[in-house]
Amino acid sequence: MQLITIPTLKAGLAALGLRKGQRVLMHCSLSAFGRIQGGAETMLYALTETIGPEGLIAMPTFTPGRFDPSEWTQPPVPESDWQRYRFETPLFDSRRTPVDWDMSQLYELFRTWPNVFRSNHSHSSFAAWGAGAAQILHQHHLEDRFGESSPLARLYDEDAEVLFLGTDYSTNTAFHLGEYRVADPPRRSFLSVQETAGKKRLIQYEDVATNSGIFTEIGADFETAGHLLATNQIGAATCRRFKLRSAVDFAADWLARKY
Ligand SMILES: CC(C)(COP(=O)(O)OP(=O)(O)OC[C@H]1O[C@@H](n2cnc3c(N)ncnc32)[C@H](O)[C@@H]1OP(=O)(O)O)[C@@H](O)C(=O)NCCC(=O)NCCS
Repeated sequence: MQLITIPTLKAGLAALGLRKGQRVLMHCSLSAFGRIQGGAETMLYALTETIGPEGLIAMPTFTPGRFDPSEWTQPPVPESDWQRYRFETPLFDSRRTPVDWDMSQLYELFRTWPNVFRSNHSHSSFAAWGAGAAQILHQHHLEDRFGESSPLARLYDEDAEVLFLGTDYSTNTAFHLGEYRVADPPRRSFLSVQETAGKKRLIQYEDVATNSGIFTEIGADFETAGHLLATNQIGAATCRRFKLRSAVDFAADWLARKY
């Protein structure tokens, strides 16, 4: 078995069309590649050396499972314990809080990487490295997980690209901004625990009710419509590159037509 190393990954990323100075939002499954010698660390060196500090790499560093035990399913917890768990869970701290277990180990290492910044959102933070990283993250409002104040909207403004490294459309976060941009999207309430003047408070807020369950269907139509910029195989992983703007606009149109 051939082990995947930094040069293998850099050659594959270059063949996919990645260049210095590009701005990308990444999604990754390390296991999709086969065996990467050095794992997440190897992947991060390959990515940062390919894009360079004049470009920008962003990743989701979500932690949605922290404060709402009513949504926990693995395992479910009795309602009588919900309040206790909410207040006995550490508060979200953008420097300390690890990404949730269903995010890639790559994102967990990335958020601790030198010169990486993270937005201060207790459910749906993003991390970024490179030119202008802090600026795309600094105004991420609590009641706007994937909307106009979010790093997604800044990446849209900057005409960033999306990179799938062994992943598919089911986790294509860019489609969420499309969900926000349809007229009158469905909304629901969310919970967060925040601290003011040394006292923890449970905060209830309204935000768009997103539904990633339809992303695979949107993604299939997006590809059929010819929006992919490039695709290739790196190790065993199928990788894809496309414009974040085209994904957001396509999802918004698709949803408006469908509903
Ligand atoms: C869920 C998901 C992360 C699982 O992918 P994964 O490859 O199993 O997980 P990771 O990327 O964390 O890679 C770690 C896994 O790679 C494998 N692995 C370990 N060392 C490795 C190495 N050196 N080389 C390659 N793979 C390795 C292991 O299976 C490891 O999982 P384990 O520790 O639980 O055994 C992936 O399918 C996915 O959905 N990624 C996108 C997530 C996302 O962006 N979500 C945002 C919107 S919801």
